[in-house]
Amino acid sequence: MYQIAPSILSANFAKLGEEITNVIDSGADIIHFDVMDNHYVPNLTIGPLVCEAIRPLTDAMIDVHLMVEPVDRIVPDFAKAGANIISFHPEASNHIDRTIGLIKDQGCKAGLVFNPATPLHYLDHVIEKLDLILIMSVNPGFGGQAFIPEALNKLKAVRKRIDDCGKNILLEIDGGVKVDNIAEIARAGADTFVAGSAIYNAGKDSDPHRYDSIIAAMRAELGKV
Ligand code: DX5
Ligand code: ZN
Repeated sequence: MYQIAPSILSANFAKLGEEITNVIDSGADIIHFDVMDNHYVPNLTIGPLVCEAIRPLTDAMIDVHLMVEPVDRIVPDFAKAGANIISFHPEASNHIDRTIGLIKDQGCKAGLVFNPATPLHYLDHVIEKLDLILIMSVNPGFGGQAFIPEALNKLKAVRKRIDDCGKNILLEIDGGVKVDNIAEIARAGADTFVAGSAIYNAGKDSDPHRYDSIIAAMRAELGKV
């Protein structure tokens, strides 16, 4: 019922393939893939070529979080590169319904992402078309930031909207997720947990890098919910 999605933003990029294999072997469920363009957000990361390169390493879903503007031009490239879920920020698309349709036409699941100050009214006419709703609990652009507690209220509101609409929509949280807050986040309604620095920093001193203990600790907290 709960899925843990390490963000490879905090992985060692010089050993990215190993970092992905190790984190999945350590018990992670999903690979969260942060795409930043130095335009929509003030950072620059990885694109479709890297997605294509890691695709053969795992059967786990690759959850592409697009922090780019414009959105539509890059969607087919990620679909071809093997993305399973593609999520975007509504402020970055001129035609939100069209972008959702484009993602689904390419055979991927579609997600909409809400920044800390983005109102939930963007869900009004499209929620039934979505496969995932991602609530940002930090402002996008960097790993290692502190969790913004107001995200808990937002999760509760979205949980209600998902339950009311009766569709099977994942509710994902992204930013500042750690062992000591994951249970509270789950209680607010999240079922999918992105964690970058909490997971990758925990394994960086082991050789090979293993993440079993941190992922087990997160699951143990989730077991208490
Ligand atoms: C931030 C990214 C996150 C980030 C999370 O813009 O979307 O996925 O990597 O990192 P942590 O878990 O360190 O906050
Ligand atoms: Zn992300």
